[in-house]
Amino acid sequence: MRMQVQQNISLKPYNTFGIDITAKSFAAFTNVDELSEMLQHPTSNSKHPTLILGGGSNILFTKNFDGLVLKNELKGIELVKDDAKHYYVKAAAGEAWHGFVLHCINNNYAGVENLSLIPGNVGASPMQNIGAYGVEIKDVFYELEAYHLNDKKKVTFSLNDCAFGYRESVFKRMYKNEFVILNVTYKLNKQPIFNTSYGAINQELENMGVKDVSIQAISQAVINIRSSKLPNPKEIGNAGSFFKNPTISIEQLNKLQEEFPNIPNYPTSSLPTGQAGTQHPTAKLAAGWLIEQCGWKGFRKNDAGCHAKQALVLVNYGQATGKEIFDLSEDILQSVKTKFGVQLEREVNII
Ligand code: FAD
Ligand code: EPU
Repeated sequence: MRMQVQQNISLKPYNTFGIDITAKSFAAFTNVDELSEMLQHPTSNSKHPTLILGGGSNILFTKNFDGLVLKNELKGIELVKDDAKHYYVKAAAGEAWHGFVLHCINNNYAGVENLSLIPGNVGASPMQNIGAYGVEIKDVFYELEAYHLNDKKKVTFSLNDCAFGYRESVFKRMYKNEFVILNVTYKLNKQPIFNTSYGAINQELENMGVKDVSIQAISQAVINIRSSKLPNPKEIGNAGSFFKNPTISIEQLNKLQEEFPNIPNYPTSSLPTGQAGTQHPTAKLAAGWLIEQCGWKGFRKNDAGCHAKQALVLVNYGQATGKEIFDLSEDILQSVKTKFGVQLEREVNII
């Protein structure tokens, strides 16, 4: 079957920042045969880049895209096996992440309830090891299947192969733009292990009048907390946290505490999955706090801004260009560096 490849189309509806740029070519695929057929297209070669697009919720387009955008529309969720303790559930990459979470909750598959309401698709969940409210994908990941763009072969990745770290994986770095993630299998618990210690979950469960904690109740609590502080991309363009929370040495933390005794910090020392080595104690800082202290919270220039309720989220009030958002992120980065000597790193993929 000949696939339909559209020319010079606006990607505004395909990214949650709502940036209006043009892609030279654009096509959607619903199975691997269609994907491999599209990779024969003249705009898919070394002179023109190929971009695999999910929900577009972790991307900032800063210029027109001179290549082929392939929108992943692989669908399906399947219980592949179970054992005494676990369900193994395989989801196709084009499934909406939150839809998958709801499917798990409805079937009493426990483990992803804390990750409720994260935008985007299943296929992007391993890209940056999505995380929220004390849980990351690595905690429930079993394996994934990916298609190598050049070799045109399927490869299976286990947990250790992915080298998951905080907002990191091999797909974001070493294998960037090499693989299309086709499906992910998650290992979910038959007996839930409730994780309510993070942030305001316990407080919210109390506000909700919950007596018996359940995965349904945790999911609702997380949805309530997220909705109260994160802007809805349907109303204000954004891609969630724009920067990562920075990790610094304990020595640097001690120095900062002399000048800023209230600086929020969390002890951390994790190594990426599958990597051996010595764990060095480090501390994670709250980038939102650092940015707020520099006076950026609620800042707006033209249509590019720093969200008034969450300084870590940069927003597009309507007509901002990707370059305006990027330039704002650069100014924020510089001022945090000047005030605290801490280098922020962007979480969002800049294209
Ligand atoms: P896209 O933005 O489409 O793509 C992201 C990157 O992955 C791109 O480089 C793309 O090329 C690549 N990619 C996508 N799909 C595939 C595939 N199948 N194969 C290979 N490469 C692929 N993230 C968190 O971790 N925690 C949060 O709490 C969180 N909250 C958010 C809140 C809001 C309001 C928003 C807008 C975003 C938030 N995010 C959060 C970020 C975002 O939702 C996640 O990173 C999500 O996983 C991105 O999914 P996507 O399908 O939209 O990916
Ligand atoms: N803070 C401020 N001012 C702000 C924002 C935050 O002072 O404007 C401080 C507060 O002290 C607060 C602390 O930062 O206690 C942490 O804030 P919050 O709980 O809102 O979380 P975050 O660290 O800003 C991270 C993730 C989110 C994730 C939440 C919940 C990163 C980069 N961000 O945000 O993920 O949903 O925790 O787990 O790790 C995303 O990746 O896109 C994302 C939204």
